[in-house]
Amino acid sequence: MADRIYYPNAELARTAYCNSVEQYKQMHEKSIKHPEEFWGEIAKQFYWETTSSNDKFFSYNFNRNDGDIFIKWMEGASTNISFNLLDKNVKCGNGDKIAFYWEGNDIEDYSRLTYRKLLEETCKFANVLKSKGVQKGDRVAIYMPMILELPIAMLACTRIGAVHSVIFAGYSSDSLAERVLDSKAKVLLTADGVWRGPKFLNLKSICDQAMAKVKSHDHKVESCIVVSHLRRVTSPPGSTSDGEKTKNINNGTTNGRSNEMNLSWDDDRDCWWHEEMEDAEASCYPVWVAAEDPLFILYTSGSTGKPKGVLHTTAGYLIYAATTFKYVFDYKPNDIYWCTADIGWITGHTYVVYGPLANAATSVLFEGTPFYPQNDRYWSVIEKYKVSQFYTAPTAIRSLMKFGDDLIKKYNLRSLKVLGSVGEPINSEAWLWFYNLIGQGKCSIADTFWQTETGGHVITPLPGATPMKPGSATFPFFGVLPELLDEDGKIIEGEGEGYLVFRQPWPGMMRSLYGNHERFETAYFDKFNGFYCTGDGARRDADGYFWVTGRIDDMLNVSGHLMSTAEVESVLAEHTAVAEAAVVSKPHPIKGQCLYCFITTNEGKNFDKQLQDELKKKIRERIGPFAQPDVVQHAPGLPKTRSGKIMRRILRKIAIGDRNVGDTSTLADESVVDLLFQLRPNA
Ligand code: WT7
Repeated sequence: MADRIYYPNAELARTAYCNSVEQYKQMHEKSIKHPEEFWGEIAKQFYWETTSSNDKFFSYNFNRNDGDIFIKWMEGASTNISFNLLDKNVKCGNGDKIAFYWEGNDIEDYSRLTYRKLLEETCKFANVLKSKGVQKGDRVAIYMPMILELPIAMLACTRIGAVHSVIFAGYSSDSLAERVLDSKAKVLLTADGVWRGPKFLNLKSICDQAMAKVKSHDHKVESCIVVSHLRRVTSPPGSTSDGEKTKNINNGTTNGRSNEMNLSWDDDRDCWWHEEMEDAEASCYPVWVAAEDPLFILYTSGSTGKPKGVLHTTAGYLIYAATTFKYVFDYKPNDIYWCTADIGWITGHTYVVYGPLANAATSVLFEGTPFYPQNDRYWSVIEKYKVSQFYTAPTAIRSLMKFGDDLIKKYNLRSLKVLGSVGEPINSEAWLWFYNLIGQGKCSIADTFWQTETGGHVITPLPGATPMKPGSATFPFFGVLPELLDEDGKIIEGEGEGYLVFRQPWPGMMRSLYGNHERFETAYFDKFNGFYCTGDGARRDADGYFWVTGRIDDMLNVSGHLMSTAEVESVLAEHTAVAEAAVVSKPHPIKGQCLYCFITTNEGKNFDKQLQDELKKKIRERIGPFAQPDVVQHAPGLPKTRSGKIMRRILRKIAIGDRNVGDTSTLADESVVDLLFQLRPNA
């Protein structure tokens, strides 16, 4: 079954931007051989205050022996992203078009925002930022739920050339503090609190703790601007009925301080979003920035444990986000597009905010979860807005599969045309369920492989062109040249499996790690000179299809969230009872992978249920709830090489209970393996 090839729906292919394998091949070839021409043509659809000359359009170095690694697109050009996403769309007649339908956590909470209104709000908030002293190049940290103020805040940063750093609002105060500190953010934007499903998150108080920690490290967040979100949610039905509803934008009460919770408030630092917006000017001349000026920082896990501030710049990111969105989702002017990812991750940056707006798209911005108030929320939202493109993650698909098909059959999902998947390899069972039940056998599935670092899709089918194989991300997007390398860096031709690397940059690729270009070079270019190394393994089949098999470094992917074993281990090791900790991933039916921890206790400390609970709690508090380990096992000793390196390969076998541990000859003490098998919690 899984080997079967699924062809694009003929109706969809008829009108698709790219509608045949031949056309794809031609376009891909041109994008590789003549990148200046290919991307130059696309760049013409955007506004440039100054333009780039042909000889400076694209330059790079991927070879450590030739000096610093660098990537530059469109040198000499200058522009403003908010101008391209908003002013330009309004001028082209899309002012009254809906940019976002906002769907709140509760079914009664929803609203909408047109392109005209989005422009106005963006300009107003840009003026607020200016009034707080934010200037071009300054960093603005954003810790917000999925509300309309989040894209407004990001766009307002781009309006004045400030660099946003969005931190997923599920991170703990420690993780938030670490990121605010690393980027030296001047301003922090948040909301009072948010409901996610039945759970309440006290965002402002998490920010207070983070700002206190940051202060103890000699950095001061000068202003904290707080959206009063709680006062406007769960309002009685009917108050959100019709017309151009702007209920959640700028209808602030004079005292928005919510009476539902006790907010602490520093009058010199904290202010309410709606109060600042009241007198703000509704227009703001855009600051023209250079093509390679920074657009945003987004932190992703690194194998040393310290998060990496992935830096994306302006022109290349804009054209790449716009082009991948257009071709991969085949977005047409009357479509309604919905990406369920949180804006706090790269998927939300590129495919909730920048890509859709660059195409004047109408999207759904969803605050809630798939399971609230019932397990059919996704399907009801698709029916409600007549969604045509639906982009989600394998972990969500797998968790929804188990509720049975009747829940889906209640809804009319016929508006769907393209389904997208992202975050981890999608198993063929989940793929087929998505295809047959949600897509009703007529939608193309775009299994999009990419990373925070790649900025946009790099290996993906095109829905009107690419014959699909369930579980394969298929072929490279325009401008992308993947290779498979063996351990020695030799290129594998044809069928085979190896390290997935890229030979040359595409416009949307990251440019550096914020404040640490050296780490950028060593993390991604040292392993194989001349290539960008993804850290993933992949296989190419006889038809040339790519199958990404997952991380081959010390990274874990839990429900599509990437984290490093080192990051989790260092938190565990802080506990006074813990002498040493080793963390590996274990396959999990819903989350894809889960964390399995081995703990060596200090002399005289007991390994008991209480310690297990304390360790789980510690991870939740220090990293975030999504990182909570599934298993914490006692390990009186760890399998180590003679030089003291923990052999995680063996621990992974123990975690799944597979006695076939392979070669153990390099182990300093082989008996430890048996002992660990005996101590497995369900052994
Ligand atoms: C890692 C990047 C890119 C947005 C979400 C995650 C894994 C992502 C796929 C896919 C197989 C995938 C890889 C990659 N991954 N999409 N379609 N098939 N694996 O961003 O947190 O930077 O994680 O996610 O392992 O390296 P991220």
